[in-house]
Order: sequence, then C-alpha cells, then structure tokens
Amino acid sequence: MGWMLLSVIFTAIIIFSFSWTVLALIRQRKLSEMKSDFVNNMTHELRTPVSAISLASEMLLKPMVLSNREKVEKYASLIFDQNNRMRSLVEHVLQVSAFDRHEYRLNLAEVDVHEMIDDLVASFRLIVEDRGGSITLKTEADRSLLVGDRLYLTNILSSVIDNAEKYSPAKPQIVISTRSSEHGIYIIVSDNGVGMTASQRKLIFQKFYRVPTGNKHNIKGYGLGLYNAQVLAKAHGGSLTVTSELGRGSTFSLYLPYGESRNSDYIS
Ligand SMILES: Nc1ncnc2c1ncn2[C@@H]1O[C@H](COP(=O)(O)OP(=O)(O)O)[C@@H](O)[C@H]1O
Ligand SMILES: [Mg+2]
Repeated sequence: MGWMLLSVIFTAIIIFSFSWTVLALIRQRKLSEMKSDFVNNMTHELRTPVSAISLASEMLLKPMVLSNREKVEKYASLIFDQNNRMRSLVEHVLQVSAFDRHEYRLNLAEVDVHEMIDDLVASFRLIVEDRGGSITLKTEADRSLLVGDRLYLTNILSSVIDNAEKYSPAKPQIVISTRSSEHGIYIIVSDNGVGMTASQRKLIFQKFYRVPTGNKHNIKGYGLGLYNAQVLAKAHGGSLTVTSELGRGSTFSLYLPYGESRNSDYIS
C-alpha cells in the first residue's frame, strides 16, 4: 500500500514537472515571437524616417535648393518632423527598459485632471473629427486635483485615447468621463471600435502584445503603450483596467488616488 502511494506521488510529481516545463517553453516561445514581431515592426518604422531624412538633407546640400528659401523650409521641416517621429519611438523603447529596471522617478506635483484632459482632447479632436467622429466630454468629478506626475499621467491618457481612435475603424465615437470616489478619481474612456475577446483582453497589458489582425488592417504600433500605461498607473497607486466586447467597443478605466498632499487648499 505504502509503495503504491509513493509511486502515485512520484508519478504526479513527474507529470507536474513535465507540464510545467512544456508550459514554460510555450510561454518563452510566445514571448520570443512577440519580440521578433516588435523588432520587425521597429525596423520598418525606423526605415521610413531614416530614408526621408537622408533624402531631405541631400536635397538641402544642393546649391539650387539652398538658394530657394521655400524649398529650404520644406526640407528642414520634413527633417524636423521625421526626427520627432524617431525620437518618440526611441523614447517609448527607453521608457520600457527603464520600467523593467525600476529606474524611473515620479515628479510629483499638483495636477488638475480636468485641465489635463482638456489639453489632450484639443489635439485628438482634430484627428477624430477629421475622420467624421467625435469626442464627448463628461467631466463630472467634483474634485479634479490630485498629486501625480503630470507628464506620465498625460502619457497614460494619451495612449488610451490614441488607441480608442486607432482601433475604431468606423467614425470614432469616443466618450471621456470622470467621476469622483472617496479616495480618488476615475477617468473612463470608451469607444465604439473593434473591441476584443475575453482572452485578448487579458493580454493587452503585456509588453509587446498586439491583437493579431492578419493583414486586414495595418495599424501601426509596438504593443508597448498599454504596458507602459499600466505600470505608470500602478506607480501612482492607481489602476488601469478594461471591459470590452468584440465588435462593439472597449472601455478603459483609469483610477488615480488623490495622492498624499491633503492640504487645506482644497478641502471642499
Ligand atoms: N481601444 C481599443 N480597442 C480595441 N483594441 C485595443 C484598444 N486598445 C488597445 N487594443 C489592443 O491592445 C493592443 C495593445 O495596445 P498598446 O499597448 O497600446 O499597443 P499598440 O497600440 O502599439 O499596438 C493593441 O495592439 C490592440 O490590439
Ligand atoms: Mg497603443
């Protein structure tokens, strides 16, 4: 009887270790696939600005062009724009590696969330309205001041709003609302876009993950925006979550606590 029990335990251990190893291998492979997708994507993304800059600067060196002020301006601004594009890509990647090594610091200051949303929406509205869509604001929180890193908070929201626009193939109808709770503020961004399945929903905050679309629509991205956004939300003591329905749209909910500075300035 004793040896039977022992052999059952032993077999169980072997089966367990085997499955564990297989699972680990699958996970590794998934990650390496995602990484190679990312590298391909990035190489592709870098190639365009690099060749554009090279062509534009070559043009700038021509005496014919140099003497024409309008052309000089055209090529200089092209170089400027393409360089900005590259810089934002590089910053994205650097940010991820800084997060991985926990090498980042929050520059805490008082931030007015409603003001921040207004600023952001002003720039996104142009893109969305150009596509025949709309952004509706329902800033209903009765307290919008909190302590946080303004730049990082802007990054989080900007990633979420950017996605709402990118992943809405029809006219994007984006609604941004805020709501106060006892210890913090909820910022909710909903769209009428492609949505996602429950299993995709669980993966979108992972580094490099992008919902596979085949070659149907070619939407640019690196799968890093939401990873960064969630790390930053947590660093603020908050959270970033999603609910979504495939084909119907998605709703992202960012919760941010008011933060430590509870001074008398804004006791309501
Ligand atoms: N609002 C949304 N609607 C549908 N899918 C989304 C939405 N936001 C994110 N996703 C999915 O989650 C993935 C990861 O998002 P993100 O980290 O921002 O990376 P990226 O936008 O660069 O692909 C996206 O590739 C997309 O498949
Ligand atoms: Mg994104």
